[in-house]
Amino acid sequence: MHHLNLGPDLSLPLAEASGQCVAILGIRGSGKSNTAGVIFEELLAARYPLSIVDIDGEYFGLKEKYEVLVVGAGENVDIELDVDAAPGVAELSLREGVPVILDVSDMLAEERELFVLEYLTRIWSLAGKLRKPYMIGIEECHEFIPQGMRTDLKEVIARIALRGRKRGLGAVIISQRSAKVEKDVLTQAGMLFLHRVVHEVDMRVYSELLPWPKAEVKEQVTSLGVGECIYLSGQSIRKVKIRPRHTFHGGFTPSFKPVETPKLRQVRGEILAAIHKFKEEKGASLPEEELQQRLEKLEAELALKQARIRELERRLRERQAPPTANPAAPEPPPEHPVPPTFDLPPEVLRKVERLLKRLRRLPIHERRLVSFLAAREPRSYTTAELAAWADCAEATLLAEPPTELVELGLLSCERLARGITYRAQLKAFVNRAFSGFLPELGPQGCHHLVGYLRGRLCQLSALEHDFSRIA
Ligand SMILES: Nc1ncnc2c1ncn2[C@@H]1O[C@H](COP(=O)(O)OP(=O)(O)OP(=O)(O)O)[C@@H](O)[C@H]1O
Ligand SMILES: [Mg+2]
Repeated sequence: MHHLNLGPDLSLPLAEASGQCVAILGIRGSGKSNTAGVIFEELLAARYPLSIVDIDGEYFGLKEKYEVLVVGAGENVDIELDVDAAPGVAELSLREGVPVILDVSDMLAEERELFVLEYLTRIWSLAGKLRKPYMIGIEECHEFIPQGMRTDLKEVIARIALRGRKRGLGAVIISQRSAKVEKDVLTQAGMLFLHRVVHEVDMRVYSELLPWPKAEVKEQVTSLGVGECIYLSGQSIRKVKIRPRHTFHGGFTPSFKPVETPKLRQVRGEILAAIHKFKEEKGASLPEEELQQRLEKLEAELALKQARIRELERRLRERQAPPTANPAAPEPPPEHPVPPTFDLPPEVLRKVERLLKRLRRLPIHERRLVSFLAAREPRSYTTAELAAWADCAEATLLAEPPTELVELGLLSCERLARGITYRAQLKAFVNRAFSGFLPELGPQGCHHLVGYLRGRLCQLSALEHDFSRIA
């Protein structure tokens, strides 16, 4: 019988993991993605088909050894896909046993949610007919199955995790925010890999999952090193060390050693050809009924959003005069013609272009914001000041904060006595997002890159009339 060799003292019969809900929890850097990567490697070695929802684009390295198709929107995709093609790829993966990574790292939150929803819905319904062994991996699963919130996507994932076994479906769910993951799913997981946590809220979750007194949970869990975890399955409970991944780990903690880009296996031509076919057909292959349902759902969402816009506009009109107690208006922004590229390497310029492509899809008030703040770094501005000077309605800023810009690290947000403030932090962003290029760039190149990026960001607000992003 095939075994999954997860570490020097942990080898599981494949049948034990099949159809199982496996939860991998722990703080940042505790080794969760490595553990998940090792499980996926072992499943792939056993030719066990799977799909991985990869929110940070960190699993493509599996292609070093295995034939895996990477689709979606991210740096390492084999084929860029949008939501229309998602059900077709899901069907191909399940029918033909093609392992797939859904790289959703470059998608905006709503697009990502819809893409994964369409994909997993098709997997669920088809698995009811085919009943083949199949595993779904979900990174940062608190984003998809948040505690105390109901969404269609959460519903389908919970179904797969809790009731998938009869259809052959299992799930590997990974999260650094144990307390934010739907409790019902965690408490019903049949196999747990509990890496180190430190915060009280997470410790409380672990206490609910482990059959030990609280003090012992704390003692055992705080003593765990990187890659170590408490393994719990059925009657078995013990501390184990997981082996490092054999394949390249895209989410490794950066060090100063140069990183070699791995050689990746190519996916068979006929699979790629089949996917291109879905892409060309776009939604044409969907049954009329399904198209109609999608249309109705989108229309309902649009109506809700329009109502919200009207409400925000009304609140805005009701506001008295714009804030008068503002300090003197900031200096006018410097002129920003197309900035020189300073001989920056082409791959660095391409990465900047990918970032801009993503930012162009943001709502106009967020583009104005990042443009305004980038030109004035390191100064910070309150939402009232931004409303007055950057032409971003304060109500919009408060109701729809620029979460994505903050998550990306382009802006930082602070709650100060004078109010909620934002500022740009391009140098810190470049240091993080371009860390792989820094040794090559050197301090001067890094300085040029920050300048170039600033120039490009300053042009973003000039795209107000660019309707192509909507098309
Ligand atoms: N079992 C292990 N043996 C050796 N090194 C490990 C092991 N697990 C993780 N590491 C190393 O520790 C670092 C962090 O691991 P990993 O990326 O898996 O953590 P994580 O919990 O997924 O973190 P994050 O929450 O930031 O995604 C990596 O550089 C990885 O190579
Ligand atoms: Mg990780």
